[in-house]
Amino acid sequence: MSIPPFTSPVSLDLTGRAALVTGAGSGIGRACALRLAAAGAHVHILDRDAESARSTAKECDGTAHVVDLADSDALEQALTRGDIVPDIVVNNAGVQVVAPIPEFDPDDFRRIMAVMVEAPFRILRRALPHMYANAWGRVVNISSVHGVRASPFKSAYVAAKHALEGLSKVTALEGAPHGVTSNCVDPAYVRTPLMENQISDQAALHGLSPDAVVRDVMLERTAIKRLIEPAEVAEFALFLCTDAASFISGASLPMDGAWTAR
Ligand SMILES: NC(=O)c1ccc[n+]([C@@H]2O[C@H](COP(=O)([O-])OP(=O)(O)OC[C@H]3O[C@@H](n4cnc5c(N)ncnc54)[C@H](O)[C@@H]3O)[C@@H](O)[C@H]2O)c1
Repeated sequence: MSIPPFTSPVSLDLTGRAALVTGAGSGIGRACALRLAAAGAHVHILDRDAESARSTAKECDGTAHVVDLADSDALEQALTRGDIVPDIVVNNAGVQVVAPIPEFDPDDFRRIMAVMVEAPFRILRRALPHMYANAWGRVVNISSVHGVRASPFKSAYVAAKHALEGLSKVTALEGAPHGVTSNCVDPAYVRTPLMENQISDQAALHGLSPDAVVRDVMLERTAIKRLIEPAEVAEFALFLCTDAASFISGASLPMDGAWTAR
């Protein structure tokens, strides 16, 4: 199938498309699921937390799948059952553990790599053939400013996000002849439960108050001194899923308030 040429105006309507959003029970994933559904897509909500997965699915008339992405057998079973056949994949699920390398538990390191690198690979391995057959597909990887920059005490997270950036670029190269784009969205700190947990971890680590952690640690490197809202990330993800973004691929797209401009 040949790739159709760009025509204007473009449609932002995703009616008829199926999307898979991982970690869609909370935070950025939930916001992406709701926004893609509002644009017309049927959304498969995958999360290890049954209650929040079902709650998001109910909110957007989607389908909940309760799967722990660290369990590769369970993930493969979910992907081969046949009911998840996405045109759009949003690899979003992620976890954070904050500790210096000598104290970092190797089991935590392995689990983080499984959830944030191996699971996206397994999902793409199953989803790309369907996208190729339709000559259309969109992969949005919710990476982080930590996909292109490092911070101390986040060895597994930074390593996993850098690996996700590499996976996204290879997906972009392999998918290009088939109408599939793949990009990373790289936010700085977003107001979500994952971030709220980090505030308490960092407060303990640095001996600071929670307010001081936000002001002096989290917003220290951004030029724009505020947290990002999950809905802002979702709008960006939606744009990348439309035909307006058909030439944007293989990119690491900062949403970092000019952190990486320095
Ligand atoms: N919040 C931030 O400041 C920020 C900044 C940059 C990037 N990110 C990235 O955005 C993504 C979403 O983060 P968030 O802040 O919305 O987090 P969150 O904790 O609010 O939500 C993460 C969701 O992923 C699910 N999840 C976690 N591990 C899972 C697993 N093993 N299997 C299935 N589901 C699992 C959780 O149950 C939860 O519903 C992550 O990849 C994170 O690294 C977050």
